[in-house]
Amino acid sequence: MTNHEKFNFKTFEDINTRIAELGAKIRLQEDLSPLQRKVKIGALEAPNAVTILPMEGCDSEPDGSPSELVRRRYMRYAAGGAGLIWWEACAVVPEGKANELQMMLVKENITAFEKLISEVNKTSSDIFGYRPIHILQLTHSGRYSRPAGHKPTPIIPQHDPILDPRVGITDEYPICTDEYLESLVEKFVEAALLAKKAGFDGVDVKAVHRYLISELLASFTREGKYGGSFENRSRLFLDIIRAIKQAVNDDSFIISSRFNVFDAHPFPYGFGAGEENFMDFVPDEPLLLVDKMIEAGVTLLSNSAGNPYYIYPQVTRPFDTSSMGIPVPDEHPLISVARLFEFTRLIQQKAGDVPVIGSGYSWLRQFLPYAAAANLADGSCSMIGLGRMAFAYPDAPRDIFEKGRMEPSKCCIACSKCTQIMRDHGKTGCPIRDAAVYAPLFRKYRAEADMREKAK
Ligand SMILES: Cc1cc2nc3c(=O)[nH]c(=O)nc-3n(C[C@H](O)[C@H](O)[C@H](O)COP(=O)(O)O)c2cc1C
Ligand code: SF4
Repeated sequence: MTNHEKFNFKTFEDINTRIAELGAKIRLQEDLSPLQRKVKIGALEAPNAVTILPMEGCDSEPDGSPSELVRRRYMRYAAGGAGLIWWEACAVVPEGKANELQMMLVKENITAFEKLISEVNKTSSDIFGYRPIHILQLTHSGRYSRPAGHKPTPIIPQHDPILDPRVGITDEYPICTDEYLESLVEKFVEAALLAKKAGFDGVDVKAVHRYLISELLASFTREGKYGGSFENRSRLFLDIIRAIKQAVNDDSFIISSRFNVFDAHPFPYGFGAGEENFMDFVPDEPLLLVDKMIEAGVTLLSNSAGNPYYIYPQVTRPFDTSSMGIPVPDEHPLISVARLFEFTRLIQQKAGDVPVIGSGYSWLRQFLPYAAAANLADGSCSMIGLGRMAFAYPDAPRDIFEKGRMEPSKCCIACSKCTQIMRDHGKTGCPIRDAAVYAPLFRKYRAEADMREKAK
């Protein structure tokens, strides 16, 4: 018997009853007007409080520029009316790509990004009379780097006895040097300058989901200036933020971070996690990090948690059905959703005027806007984010604004098929609600992954 349950709520009463039974801190409110509030972000203003969260499609051109599938995805977002589009993971160095077709902005392909941003802006302006704010997520995939083919090429800041075997790392495998880490500062700066030139309103120094900077924050066992103490573990991250701020030298350019408040990973390898019980959240360092990020120049935050590559992906994205090899959690998804909401609430309290964007709403399906409105109304966050829901239902913001509701038949069903495509090394999207494009791709990549597995 597990506490997990699939979504089966039809009415407000159904879901409110379960929320009450579980004692989950989730509130629903029928007044959806907070979602249409404008949000001040530094010197700029988002036209409403709905964000498309970064959702990588693993489908750029080999040079990192937007492919036709990428273009299609962002044009669908444009026609959906969100006030902020947080563009997906974009590698700052080739060896730090998470897949062969990860987005990468370089001076040779900048015009392709410029063109897509202006197309998105035109579409959004034509339909809604406003354009979204654009943030580009800058990343180094660290332990999860796989820049070519199907073989991982991890770049690790420390050994981790739980995670190492999962990507074939032995004790002899080298950890990256301080010199290598230091050299990344200018790579992030170069990418940020290019992003500004391409028309992005800001960049995100990605420190989430156990990619390189996220893992560094938890590198208690690393020696030298990037490991051990909090000051050392956060050094590279904060140096990058400060260096971008100095190089850009423009207060209207947004420097932001999507960061993990909680890794749900055992000590001494997890950030924000209890020494005795790694599922206990210990807020001291995450909250200190918020102060430090703001001091360094961050004017927008988005928080997440967990490691989607490990066996507790519900900490990042509560689901009905897991991807292959992932156990069904002994936790009700409403509790997983409430945990993410609570993290955002805490971070927003700490961040004060700096807007914080929450995540983990997709499991709520058609009740998403009501939970979002309640969180916005009571100050638990400044904006709300759509992750998987954006793949499944890119028009969701428009339906919320124009019809006052979301259609159950268009909602994400948290089935993890988009994740499965990523795990199978394919180009991802929603095989359920965008089936004409992605159902055949899902089947193709599944079959290819099976063949690779059998050939081992
Ligand atoms: C297929 C897929 C791709 C994702 N890509 C990114 C990404 O590029 N950057 C990022 O920070 N999070 C990424 N995420 C996490 C989402 O942004 C989001 O935090 C998560 O799905 C929870 O929100 P939701 O419940 O609305 O889906 C991805 C998630 C999925 C399922
Ligand atoms: S495949 Fe579609 S329905 Fe399933 S989790 Fe992903 S976005 Fe949601």
